[in-house]
Formats: sequence, C-alpha cells, structure tokens
Amino acid sequence: MIKPEAMAAGHAGKILDLVLSKGFRLVSLKFTQLSEQEAGKFYEVHKERPFYRDLVNYMASGPVLAAILEKENAVQDFRALIGATDPAEAAEGTIRKRFAESKAKNAVHGSDSDENAAIEGAFFFTGREQY
Ligand code: RTP
Ligand code: MG
Repeated sequence: MIKPEAMAAGHAGKILDLVLSKGFRLVSLKFTQLSEQEAGKFYEVHKERPFYRDLVNYMASGPVLAAILEKENAVQDFRALIGATDPAEAAEGTIRKRFAESKAKNAVHGSDSDENAAIEGAFFFTGREQY
C-alpha cells in the first residue's frame, strides 16, 4: 500500500514504477480511502501499541493505493525494497529512504508474511479483482 502522505506528495507513480522495475507483478490495484474503522481493523495487530491511535488517524487521513504484488520471495524482497520502518535507518536506494517523511509517515506498507499478505489482499480485493 502507498500511504496517504506519499499519495498527497505525488510519489505514487515513481514508487509504482520502482516496484514494477524490481520484478514484482501487479495482481490487483486500487485507489481508495480507508475509514477510521477500516484502518483500525487493518492495523489491529498494533492495537495495544502507543502509536495505534495516531496510526489509524493517519491511515484514514487520505486516499491510498492498495496493491497485491506477486514474485518469488515477494514478502522478503518487498520489505528489502521498502527499507526500515524509520527512514532515518533505511538503506540508500530504498523506497522509505527516498520517499518517507518520518517513522510514522513512512510512504508504504508491506505485508510481513505470506499468511498476512493473503489476509490483507482479501481485505482490499474480491476474487474478481485479482488477476
Ligand atoms: P508496515 O506494517 O506499515 O509495513 O510497517 P512496518 O512493518 O515497517 O512497521 P510496523 O512495526 O508494522 O508498524 C506499522 C506502522 O505504524 C507506524 N509506526 N509509528 N511513531 C512510531 O513510533 C511508529 N512506529 C510504527 C508506521 O507507519 C509503521 O509503518
Ligand atoms: Mg508491519
């Protein structure tokens, strides 16, 4: 997912281009905005964390670009491409190093396991929206 502040800053095209150039195939793509309730559900695993409320407000603050991506080792390779959660700690050339504003507003989301990728894909897309 490309997060609201990166969408507002006009980074979507460059981020998507970078992702596709690294060999990820688009299975699904959607421009949409989460309600606070939906953002809360998406990041439910973090509900006990101190940043949860801010995270939910931020993720519902504007439209996002949601995608399902396919590749060998997709989860691991995508997380390597996006870089560390905090852009200050992200490696040169990573998406967060280039485009993230801060640890909270960090441009992109990536699933952390194949299992969660399937859950998150189904959160955004019906079967008829996956190719
Ligand atoms: P994501 O789930 O969005 O791909 O990010 P991540 O795995 O790198 O990081 P995670 O620990 O899952 O945290 C989820 C999102 O919460 C926000 N966050 N803010 N203010 C803070 O200390 C803080 N820590 C995390 C970030 O937007 C992070 O991506
Ligand atoms: Mg995460």
